Amino acid sequence: MLPTPVLERAREELVDWQGSGMSVMEVSHRGRPFVETAERAEADLRTLLRIPDDYRVLFLQGGATLQFSMVPMNLAPPGARVDYVNTGNWSAKAIDAARQRQDVNVAADPGAPYRTIPEPVQWHLSDDAAYVHYTPNETIDGVEFHYIPDTGDVPLVADMSSTLLSRQLPVQRFGLIYAGAQKNIGPAGLTLVIVRDDLLSRAPSDLPAPLSYRAHADAGSMLNTPPTFAWYLAGLVFRWILDEGGLAAMANRNYRKAARLYNAIDRSAFYSNPIDENCRSWMNVPFTLADPALDDVFLAEADGADLRHLKGHRSVGGMRASLYNAMPEAGVEALVEFMAEFERRHG
Ligand SMILES: Cc1ncc(COP(=O)(O)O)c(C=O)c1O
Repeated sequence: MLPTPVLERAREELVDWQGSGMSVMEVSHRGRPFVETAERAEADLRTLLRIPDDYRVLFLQGGATLQFSMVPMNLAPPGARVDYVNTGNWSAKAIDAARQRQDVNVAADPGAPYRTIPEPVQWHLSDDAAYVHYTPNETIDGVEFHYIPDTGDVPLVADMSSTLLSRQLPVQRFGLIYAGAQKNIGPAGLTLVIVRDDLLSRAPSDLPAPLSYRAHADAGSMLNTPPTFAWYLAGLVFRWILDEGGLAAMANRNYRKAARLYNAIDRSAFYSNPIDENCRSWMNVPFTLADPALDDVFLAEADGADLRHLKGHRSVGGMRASLYNAMPEAGVEALVEFMAEFERRHG
């Protein structure tokens, strides 16, 4: 979901942006008006996340999936040792991509189905890793870290696609953070990378420019035409979060939404969530029905009640409720009421 005020503002401005008589999609990305919009978006993001001055923010394309390859290409020489923690479907994909080029040490892997996170004391981190990669929130599995692992001097790299901007974050604990925009940030087509300055110099000089963080940083994310409409919309989302009270307000709201749904699931013998309690996701709540034969009925009736996109990912089945920033508390309330009513009739 995108926040309704953001969509309304975009609608208002769609055919006449800033009195230009044109859409923001029709102006030059190098013209002053767009550059100012782009800079304001970055400044607002820096305010929200308190991004330290020695970090660069890149507005890229290619999704988080391209980052699975760009991270190793930029941060490690070919064949060098890199550490990955595997806690779900997206970590596993990041590992597969890194293996094409690196000596990957999987420091921890509880195995599928992913329902837990091994304690860091059980991880087998290498002494010589170029970085440690992990996925703070596993979107498909609903497994989330509620702490930041300590990797000492080894840069910590995080795929924050489904958790960035859901709460406050000490950016200085990370070497690099990346996120596809299409959860809490904006529309698909934009990918954010927040990278510590000193890591930019690790990129080999023969890396093609579109794959090089340093080249993107040097060009102010305008090495080539950026996804201007997605960047503009992300800027509106950052403004909306600031107007709503910033990341502390998002965190409170997101905590309450998740707690409301997990409580409803835990109180019922009809619904269940299989994830260890200490690593349940605030953003993605998978749940199953006591009788899987009722799954299709549940989805059809939910759809009839205007509750959409509840089908779990095909790799895990069951249901999944995604509670990103733009999902109002009333939306969770409506889901919980629907679930109770469905249980009453079918349980
Ligand atoms: C945690 C995580 N990583 C990576 C991806 C892949 O992102 P993209 O489709 O932007 O490449 C997703 C998509 O949902 C995700 O949730």
